[in-house]
Amino acid sequence: MDIKLLAIESSCDETSASVIINGKIINNIIATQDVHRKYGGVVPELASRAHQKNIVPVVDEALRQAGIAKSELSAIAFTQGPGLLGALLVGASFAKAMAMALQVPLIGVNHMQAHILAHFIEEPKPEFPFLCLTVSGGHTQIVLVKSPLEMEVLGETQDDAVGEAFDKTAKIIGLPYPGGPLIDQYAQKGNPLRFEFPETSTPGLNFSFSGIKTAILYFLQREVKKDPDFVKNNLEDICASVQHTLIKMLMQKLKKAARQHHIKHIGIAGGVSANSGLRSTLLQEGEKRGWTTFIPQFEYCTDNAAMIAMAAHYKFLEKEFVGLDAVPNPRM
Ligand code: KG4
Ligand code: ZN
Repeated sequence: MDIKLLAIESSCDETSASVIINGKIINNIIATQDVHRKYGGVVPELASRAHQKNIVPVVDEALRQAGIAKSELSAIAFTQGPGLLGALLVGASFAKAMAMALQVPLIGVNHMQAHILAHFIEEPKPEFPFLCLTVSGGHTQIVLVKSPLEMEVLGETQDDAVGEAFDKTAKIIGLPYPGGPLIDQYAQKGNPLRFEFPETSTPGLNFSFSGIKTAILYFLQREVKKDPDFVKNNLEDICASVQHTLIKMLMQKLKKAARQHHIKHIGIAGGVSANSGLRSTLLQEGEKRGWTTFIPQFEYCTDNAAMIAMAAHYKFLEKEFVGLDAVPNPRM
Protein backbone atom coordinates (compact mmCIF):
# COMPACT_ATOMS: atom_id res chain seq x y z
CA MET A 1 0.00 0.00 0.00
CA ASP A 2 1.23 3.52 -0.77
CA ILE A 3 2.29 5.71 2.14
CA LYS A 4 0.68 9.11 1.61
CA LEU A 5 1.35 11.69 4.31
CA LEU A 6 0.34 15.29 4.88
CA ALA A 7 2.77 17.35 6.98
CA ILE A 8 2.20 20.73 8.59
CA GLU A 9 4.84 23.20 9.81
CA SER A 10 3.87 26.15 12.02
CA SER A 11 6.70 26.60 14.52
CA CYS A 12 7.57 30.20 13.77
CA ASP A 13 6.51 32.56 10.98
CA GLU A 14 5.93 30.28 7.98
CA THR A 15 2.71 28.32 7.58
CA SER A 16 3.53 25.36 5.39
CA ALA A 17 2.03 22.08 4.19
CA SER A 18 3.56 19.27 2.17
CA VAL A 19 2.43 15.97 0.71
CA ILE A 20 4.89 13.08 0.56
CA ILE A 21 4.11 9.79 -1.20
CA ASN A 22 6.31 6.73 -0.53
CA GLY A 23 9.16 8.98 0.63
CA LYS A 24 9.01 11.32 -2.39
CA ILE A 25 8.12 14.97 -1.76
CA ILE A 26 5.24 15.97 -4.03
CA ASN A 27 4.99 19.63 -3.02
CA ASN A 28 5.95 22.23 -0.43
CA ILE A 29 3.43 25.04 -0.04
CA ILE A 30 4.64 27.97 2.11
CA ALA A 31 2.78 31.09 3.25
CA THR A 32 5.31 33.58 4.62
CA GLN A 33 4.07 36.04 7.22
CA ASP A 34 5.03 39.60 6.35
CA VAL A 35 3.32 41.18 9.37
CA HIS A 36 6.51 40.88 11.43
CA ARG A 37 8.73 42.97 9.17
CA LYS A 38 7.88 46.31 10.67
CA TYR A 39 8.40 45.06 14.24
CA GLY A 40 12.00 43.94 13.68
CA GLY A 41 11.27 40.39 14.82
CA VAL A 42 8.56 37.74 15.05
CA VAL A 43 5.62 38.86 17.25
CA PRO A 44 4.30 35.57 18.70
CA GLU A 45 0.64 36.62 18.96
CA LEU A 46 0.60 37.88 15.37
CA ALA A 47 2.28 34.67 14.22
CA SER A 48 -0.47 32.54 15.80
CA ARG A 49 -3.20 34.60 14.16
CA ALA A 50 -1.53 34.46 10.76
CA HIS A 51 -1.17 30.66 11.07
CA GLN A 52 -4.89 30.40 11.82
CA LYS A 53 -5.68 32.43 8.72
CA ASN A 54 -3.27 30.57 6.44
CA ILE A 55 -3.50 26.96 7.52
CA VAL A 56 -6.69 25.94 5.70
CA PRO A 57 -5.72 27.45 2.31
CA VAL A 58 -2.17 26.08 2.56
CA VAL A 59 -3.33 22.54 3.36
CA ASP A 60 -6.04 22.69 0.65
CA GLU A 61 -3.47 23.81 -1.90
CA ALA A 62 -1.05 21.01 -0.98
CA LEU A 63 -3.75 18.34 -1.37
CA ARG A 64 -5.15 19.91 -4.55
CA GLN A 65 -1.72 20.11 -6.22
CA ALA A 66 -0.94 16.53 -5.22
CA GLY A 67 -4.28 15.48 -6.67
CA ILE A 68 -5.20 13.36 -3.68
CA ALA A 69 -8.31 13.25 -1.52
CA LYS A 70 -8.09 13.57 2.28
CA SER A 71 -9.45 10.05 2.57
CA GLU A 72 -6.33 8.67 0.86
CA LEU A 73 -3.97 9.95 3.57
CA SER A 74 -2.13 7.35 5.66
CA ALA A 75 -1.24 9.76 8.52
CA ILE A 76 -1.02 13.44 9.45
CA ALA A 77 2.26 14.94 10.70
CA PHE A 78 2.91 18.21 12.48
CA THR A 79 5.82 20.09 14.04
CA GLN A 80 5.63 19.34 17.76
CA GLY A 81 8.56 21.60 18.74
CA PRO A 82 10.77 23.46 19.29
CA GLY A 83 9.15 26.78 18.39
CA LEU A 84 6.68 29.40 19.59
CA LEU A 85 3.98 27.78 21.72
CA GLY A 86 1.04 29.67 20.21
CA ALA A 87 2.29 29.04 16.69
CA LEU A 88 2.89 25.33 17.33
CA LEU A 89 -0.59 25.01 18.85
CA VAL A 90 -2.27 26.03 15.60
CA GLY A 91 -0.54 23.31 13.55
CA ALA A 92 -0.90 20.70 16.30
CA SER A 93 -4.62 21.34 16.83
CA PHE A 94 -5.29 21.32 13.11
CA ALA A 95 -3.35 18.07 12.60
CA LYS A 96 -5.09 16.39 15.54
CA ALA A 97 -8.54 17.37 14.32
CA MET A 98 -7.74 16.08 10.85
CA ALA A 99 -6.24 12.80 12.12
CA MET A 100 -9.26 12.27 14.33
CA ALA A 101 -11.75 13.00 11.55
CA LEU A 102 -9.93 10.70 9.10
CA GLN A 103 -9.17 8.03 11.72
CA VAL A 104 -5.47 7.93 10.79
CA PRO A 105 -2.32 8.02 12.95
CA LEU A 106 -0.74 11.28 14.08
CA ILE A 107 3.02 11.94 13.84
CA GLY A 108 4.79 14.56 15.99
CA VAL A 109 8.02 15.82 14.43
CA ASN A 110 11.00 17.57 16.00
CA HIS A 111 11.68 20.68 13.90
CA MET A 112 15.49 20.50 14.28
CA GLN A 113 15.59 16.82 13.35
CA ALA A 114 13.50 17.71 10.31
CA HIS A 115 15.96 20.45 9.25
CA ILE A 116 18.63 17.72 9.13
CA LEU A 117 16.38 15.27 7.26
CA ALA A 118 15.94 17.92 4.54
CA HIS A 119 19.14 16.29 3.21
CA PHE A 120 17.09 13.24 2.23
CA ILE A 121 14.60 15.07 0.03
CA GLU A 122 16.88 15.04 -3.00
CA GLU A 123 20.01 13.36 -4.29
CA PRO A 124 22.80 13.21 -3.34
CA LYS A 125 21.85 11.91 0.09
CA PRO A 126 24.47 11.65 2.85
CA GLU A 127 25.68 8.29 4.13
CA PHE A 128 25.53 7.53 7.84
CA PRO A 129 27.13 8.58 10.04
CA PHE A 130 27.54 12.20 8.97
CA LEU A 131 27.97 15.51 10.76
CA CYS A 132 25.43 18.28 10.35
CA LEU A 133 25.91 21.91 11.33
CA THR A 134 22.33 22.94 12.07
CA VAL A 135 21.99 26.71 12.07
CA SER A 136 18.72 28.58 12.41
CA GLY A 137 17.08 31.54 14.11
CA GLY A 138 16.78 29.65 17.38
CA HIS A 139 19.52 26.99 17.27
CA THR A 140 23.18 26.42 16.49
CA GLN A 141 24.20 22.79 16.81
CA ILE A 142 26.72 20.26 15.57
CA VAL A 143 24.87 16.97 15.30
CA LEU A 144 26.23 13.47 14.76
CA VAL A 145 23.59 11.82 12.57
CA LYS A 146 23.71 8.05 13.00
CA SER A 147 20.48 7.14 11.20
CA PRO A 148 17.34 9.05 10.13
CA LEU A 149 15.94 9.01 13.65
CA GLU A 150 19.10 8.62 15.74
CA MET A 151 21.00 11.84 16.31
CA GLU A 152 23.41 13.10 18.95
CA VAL A 153 24.04 16.78 19.64
CA LEU A 154 27.84 17.14 19.99
CA GLY A 155 27.86 20.86 20.61
CA GLU A 156 25.49 23.81 20.68
CA THR A 157 25.27 27.47 21.46
CA GLN A 158 25.43 28.50 25.06
CA ASP A 159 23.51 31.71 24.44
CA ASP A 160 22.32 33.27 21.12
CA ALA A 161 21.83 31.29 17.92
CA VAL A 162 23.89 32.35 14.90
CA GLY A 163 20.68 33.36 13.07
CA GLU A 164 19.95 35.71 15.95
CA ALA A 165 23.42 37.23 15.57
CA PHE A 166 22.63 37.89 11.88
CA ASP A 167 19.17 39.27 12.65
CA LYS A 168 20.27 41.44 15.57
CA THR A 169 23.18 42.89 13.62
CA ALA A 170 20.73 43.71 10.83
CA LYS A 171 18.43 45.42 13.33
CA ILE A 172 21.30 47.54 14.71
CA ILE A 173 22.18 48.75 11.21
CA GLY A 174 18.54 49.47 10.42
CA LEU A 175 17.64 46.56 8.11
CA PRO A 176 14.16 44.97 8.43
CA TYR A 177 13.46 41.48 9.84
CA PRO A 178 14.60 38.87 8.94
CA GLY A 179 17.96 40.51 8.44
CA GLY A 180 20.02 37.40 7.65
CA PRO A 181 19.20 37.28 3.92
CA LEU A 182 19.82 41.05 3.58
CA ILE A 183 23.21 40.86 5.31
CA ASP A 184 24.02 38.04 2.89
CA GLN A 185 23.07 40.24 -0.10
CA TYR A 186 25.11 43.28 0.97
CA ALA A 187 28.01 41.08 2.08
CA GLN A 188 28.43 39.77 -1.46
CA LYS A 189 29.59 43.25 -2.53
CA GLY A 190 31.69 44.07 0.52
CA ASN A 191 35.21 43.49 1.86
CA PRO A 192 35.07 40.74 4.51
CA LEU A 193 38.43 41.72 5.98
CA ARG A 194 37.73 45.44 6.39
CA PHE A 195 36.55 45.31 10.04
CA GLU A 196 37.61 42.88 12.73
CA PHE A 197 35.42 41.68 15.59
CA PRO A 198 36.70 39.72 18.59
CA GLU A 199 35.50 36.11 18.56
CA THR A 200 34.43 34.54 21.83
CA SER A 201 36.19 31.31 22.67
CA THR A 202 34.05 28.48 24.04
CA PRO A 203 34.96 25.03 25.33
CA GLY A 204 34.66 21.87 23.24
CA LEU A 205 32.23 22.00 20.34
CA ASN A 206 29.96 24.62 21.88
CA PHE A 207 29.31 28.08 20.48
CA SER A 208 28.64 31.53 21.90
CA PHE A 209 27.35 34.45 19.87
CA SER A 210 26.24 36.97 22.50
CA GLY A 211 29.74 38.47 22.87
CA ILE A 212 30.20 39.13 19.18
CA LYS A 213 26.76 40.71 18.98
CA THR A 214 27.68 43.16 21.76
CA ALA A 215 31.07 43.83 20.15
CA ILE A 216 29.33 44.72 16.87
CA LEU A 217 26.90 47.02 18.71
CA TYR A 218 29.69 48.90 20.56
CA PHE A 219 31.80 49.16 17.41
CA LEU A 220 28.94 50.69 15.46
CA GLN A 221 27.96 53.07 18.28
CA ARG A 222 31.57 54.28 18.48
CA GLU A 223 31.89 54.79 14.72
CA VAL A 224 28.51 56.50 14.35
CA LYS A 225 29.49 58.96 17.07
CA LYS A 226 32.49 59.98 14.92
CA ASP A 227 30.57 59.89 11.61
CA PRO A 228 26.74 59.79 11.58
CA ASP A 229 26.81 58.38 8.03
CA PHE A 230 29.18 55.54 8.94
CA VAL A 231 26.65 52.74 8.45
CA LYS A 232 25.28 54.14 5.22
CA ASN A 233 28.74 54.64 3.72
CA ASN A 234 30.11 51.27 4.80
CA LEU A 235 27.07 49.01 4.72
CA GLU A 236 28.53 46.40 2.39
CA ASP A 237 31.86 46.14 4.22
CA ILE A 238 30.10 45.95 7.62
CA CYS A 239 27.84 43.13 6.40
CA ALA A 240 30.73 41.27 4.75
CA SER A 241 32.94 41.56 7.84
CA VAL A 242 30.20 40.45 10.25
CA GLN A 243 29.24 37.53 8.04
CA HIS A 244 32.87 36.52 7.59
CA THR A 245 33.40 36.45 11.37
CA LEU A 246 30.25 34.43 12.07
CA ILE A 247 31.10 31.88 9.38
CA LYS A 248 34.66 31.59 10.72
CA MET A 249 33.29 30.83 14.19
CA LEU A 250 30.96 28.14 12.80
CA MET A 251 33.61 26.54 10.61
CA GLN A 252 36.21 26.36 13.38
CA LYS A 253 33.95 24.10 15.45
CA LEU A 254 32.77 22.10 12.48
CA LYS A 255 36.38 21.34 11.48
CA LYS A 256 37.15 20.36 15.08
CA ALA A 257 34.14 18.01 15.21
CA ALA A 258 35.12 16.39 11.90
CA ARG A 259 38.66 15.84 13.19
CA GLN A 260 37.58 14.47 16.55
CA HIS A 261 35.01 12.08 15.11
CA HIS A 262 36.96 11.12 11.97
CA ILE A 263 33.98 11.92 9.78
CA LYS A 264 34.28 13.23 6.25
CA HIS A 265 30.61 13.42 5.31
CA ILE A 266 29.56 16.91 6.35
CA GLY A 267 26.29 18.78 5.85
CA ILE A 268 24.67 22.06 6.82
CA ALA A 269 20.98 22.64 7.50
CA GLY A 270 18.55 25.25 8.86
CA GLY A 271 17.74 28.81 7.79
CA VAL A 272 21.31 30.11 7.99
CA SER A 273 22.46 27.32 5.65
CA ALA A 274 20.81 29.43 2.93
CA ASN A 275 23.68 31.90 3.43
CA SER A 276 25.78 32.11 0.27
CA GLY A 277 29.00 32.73 2.21
CA LEU A 278 28.49 29.70 4.44
CA ARG A 279 27.60 27.53 1.44
CA SER A 280 30.72 28.50 -0.52
CA THR A 281 32.98 28.26 2.56
CA LEU A 282 31.74 24.73 3.23
CA LEU A 283 32.46 23.75 -0.37
CA GLN A 284 35.98 25.26 -0.22
CA GLU A 285 36.84 23.66 3.11
CA GLY A 286 35.39 20.38 1.90
CA GLU A 287 37.62 20.41 -1.15
CA LYS A 288 40.67 21.20 0.97
CA ARG A 289 39.96 18.47 3.51
CA GLY A 290 38.58 15.71 1.30
CA TRP A 291 35.08 16.04 2.75
CA THR A 292 31.96 15.04 0.87
CA THR A 293 29.67 17.99 1.52
CA PHE A 294 25.88 18.22 1.53
CA ILE A 295 23.86 21.41 1.18
CA PRO A 296 20.05 21.33 0.84
CA GLN A 297 18.37 23.37 -1.88
CA PHE A 298 17.39 26.89 -0.74
CA GLU A 299 13.72 25.96 -0.54
CA TYR A 300 14.49 23.27 2.04
CA CYS A 301 16.90 25.34 4.20
CA THR A 302 14.49 27.85 5.74
CA ASP A 303 11.32 26.64 7.47
CA ASN A 304 9.16 24.41 5.29
CA ALA A 305 6.81 21.44 5.62
CA ALA A 306 8.67 19.23 3.13
CA MET A 307 11.34 18.55 5.73
CA ILE A 308 8.61 17.74 8.28
CA ALA A 309 7.10 15.35 5.72
CA MET A 310 10.49 13.69 5.16
CA ALA A 311 10.92 13.13 8.91
CA ALA A 312 7.31 11.91 9.11
CA HIS A 313 7.99 9.30 6.43
CA TYR A 314 10.81 7.76 8.48
CA LYS A 315 8.65 7.88 11.59
CA PHE A 316 5.76 6.23 9.76
CA LEU A 317 8.05 3.36 8.72
CA GLU A 318 8.99 2.87 12.39
CA LYS A 319 5.35 3.31 13.50
CA GLU A 320 6.44 6.20 15.73
CA PHE A 321 3.04 7.78 16.30
CA VAL A 322 1.74 10.11 19.01
CA GLY A 323 -1.67 10.15 20.64
CA LEU A 324 -4.29 12.87 20.44
CA ASP A 325 -3.05 13.96 23.87
CA ALA A 326 0.35 15.00 22.40
CA VAL A 327 1.19 18.57 23.39
CA PRO A 328 3.41 21.03 21.52
CA ASN A 329 6.78 21.44 23.19
CA PRO A 330 8.44 24.85 22.66
CA ARG A 331 11.76 23.51 24.03
CA MET A 332 11.63 20.03 22.51
O1 KG4 B 1 15.31 27.67 10.04
P1 KG4 B 1 14.68 29.02 9.97
O2 KG4 B 1 13.90 29.39 8.75
O3 KG4 B 1 13.74 29.25 11.20
C1 KG4 B 1 14.06 28.78 12.47
O4 KG4 B 1 13.86 27.57 12.72
O5 KG4 B 1 14.59 29.60 13.23
O6 KG4 B 1 15.87 30.05 10.20
C2 KG4 B 1 15.63 31.42 10.21
C3 KG4 B 1 16.96 32.15 10.36
C4 KG4 B 1 16.80 33.64 10.55
O7 KG4 B 1 17.66 34.06 11.59
C5 KG4 B 1 17.26 34.21 9.22
O8 KG4 B 1 17.80 35.50 9.30
C6 KG4 B 1 18.31 33.20 8.83
O9 KG4 B 1 17.75 31.95 9.18
N1 KG4 B 1 18.62 33.24 7.39
C7 KG4 B 1 19.82 33.64 6.90
C8 KG4 B 1 19.72 33.57 5.50
N2 KG4 B 1 18.47 33.12 5.17
C9 KG4 B 1 17.82 32.91 6.36
N3 KG4 B 1 20.92 34.06 7.53
C10 KG4 B 1 21.97 34.40 6.77
N4 KG4 B 1 21.96 34.38 5.43
C11 KG4 B 1 20.87 33.98 4.74
N5 KG4 B 1 20.86 33.95 3.41
ZN1 ZN C 1 13.70 26.20 11.38
